[in-house]
Amino acid sequence: MKIIVGITGGIAAYKAPELVRLLKKAGHEVRCAATGHALEFVTRVTLETVSGAPLYSDLFASGRTEHISLKDWGEMLVVAPATANIIGKVASGIADDALSTLLLAFSSKPVVMAPAMNCEMWAHPAVQRNVETLKSWGIRMVGPAEGELACGVSGVGRMSEPEEIVKSVATVLQHTGPLAGQRWLVTAGPTYERIDSVRFIGNYSSGKMGFALAEALAGAGAEVELVTGPTSLNISTSRRVNVHRVESAREMYAAATEVFPSCHGAILSAAVADYRPAECADHKLKKNGSEGMTLELVQNPDILATLGGMKREGQTLVGFALETDNEEANAQRKLEKKNLDYIVLNSLRDKGAGFGVDTNKVYIIGRDGSRTESPLLSKQEVARLIINTVTS
Ligand code: CTP
Repeated sequence: MKIIVGITGGIAAYKAPELVRLLKKAGHEVRCAATGHALEFVTRVTLETVSGAPLYSDLFASGRTEHISLKDWGEMLVVAPATANIIGKVASGIADDALSTLLLAFSSKPVVMAPAMNCEMWAHPAVQRNVETLKSWGIRMVGPAEGELACGVSGVGRMSEPEEIVKSVATVLQHTGPLAGQRWLVTAGPTYERIDSVRFIGNYSSGKMGFALAEALAGAGAEVELVTGPTSLNISTSRRVNVHRVESAREMYAAATEVFPSCHGAILSAAVADYRPAECADHKLKKNGSEGMTLELVQNPDILATLGGMKREGQTLVGFALETDNEEANAQRKLEKKNLDYIVLNSLRDKGAGFGVDTNKVYIIGRDGSRTESPLLSKQEVARLIINTVTS
C-alpha cells in the first residue's frame, strides 16, 4: 500500500523514522509529510533517506497543489506523533500548513493517528472532545500509552511504539485494503527430500520472493496462508499471515491442497523438488566400499498442476517458471498445461534475479494475453507488481 506518514512537533517525532522503516519492511511504499515544528525534532535528510522519497513540508515550495497530488497518491495517512495541536486543527477544519491541508484533503481515505503529549494535555476536555470528534469521523486512534513522559512525569500520553502503530495499520488494511476479505495461498522456499536421517536433496531457494509476496498480499488486506519449505525467514507478527512450515514436496502438497479450496487465489513461488529418493533410510547410510553410489529417484506430485485441476470459477492461480532456453514459449506452454491464469517468468540470465539475492526481474504472462515486464527491482517491489497485475 502507499502510505503517507505525517509527523508533527512532539519529542516522539524521533521514533517516526523507525515507523517508516517498519512500514517499508512490511512491504508498503512510504512518503513523509511533516510540520515545521516536527523538523525541530527530526531532520528532512533522515525522513527522506528512510522513506526514499522527497519530504512534503512546505505548502508553497513547489508552487503546485502538492497536497492534492499527494492525497491522490496515498492510500492511507498515519500521523505519528499527533500533537494536541494537529488533533485540534483537524477537529476544527483548520488547514494552515502542509500537513493539516493534506489531512483535510484526505477525508475519504483511512487515517490513523498516534497521539503523544503530556498527560494533563491529553486529559484536557478540549483534547478529549476533539479526539471523540475525529473518532466519530472514522479516524482510528492508536494509544497514547501509559508510561514515563519526556517532561519527567508518568501518565497517559506516550506515543505507542512503532510496532503497535504498524499493527494498527495492518488492522485497518484488513477492512479497507483492495484485497480485504480475501484469502490467498502462497508457497515459498525450497523443499528438502530426505535421503537418510542426516542427508537430503535440496536447492538454493531462500524463500525471499514468497515471503515478500505473502507480506504484500497481507499489506493489501488479504489473509494469507503461507506454506513454506525450510528457510530462516520470519513474517513480522503484525501481519495476518498463517505460516505452515513444511519440509518435503509431499508435505507442501498436503498443506497447499488443503487450504486452496477456501482461497481466492494462489501464487506458487516455491522451488519444489521434482524428484525425491525412492527410499529414505531411517539411519545414516554408511559408505559401502564401492566407488560410487546410485540413488533411485521417483517423481513428486506437481502441486501447481494439481491446483490447476482443482481450480474453481473465480479463483486465480499464478505459477513461477525458471527457464534458461526458449523462455517465453516454455512459460506459455506451462501456463496452458497447468491451467494457470498468470505465469511469472524468472530468467537466470538476468544478473541480480533468481535465488538468494534481494532483487528480481520478472516477466508476467497472462492467460488473457497480457504481458508485464519489470526492471530489476527489490523483491518487495516485484511482489507488489505481481499482486497488482494478478488482482487487477
Ligand atoms: N511446482 C509445484 N510442484 C512441483 C514442481 C513445481 O508446485 N512438484 C511449481 C513451482 O512452485 C512453480 C512452477 O511449478 O510455480 C514451475 O516449476 P518448474 O520447476 O519451473 O516447472 P516444471 O513444471 O517442474 O517443469 P520443468 O522442470 O520441466 O521445467
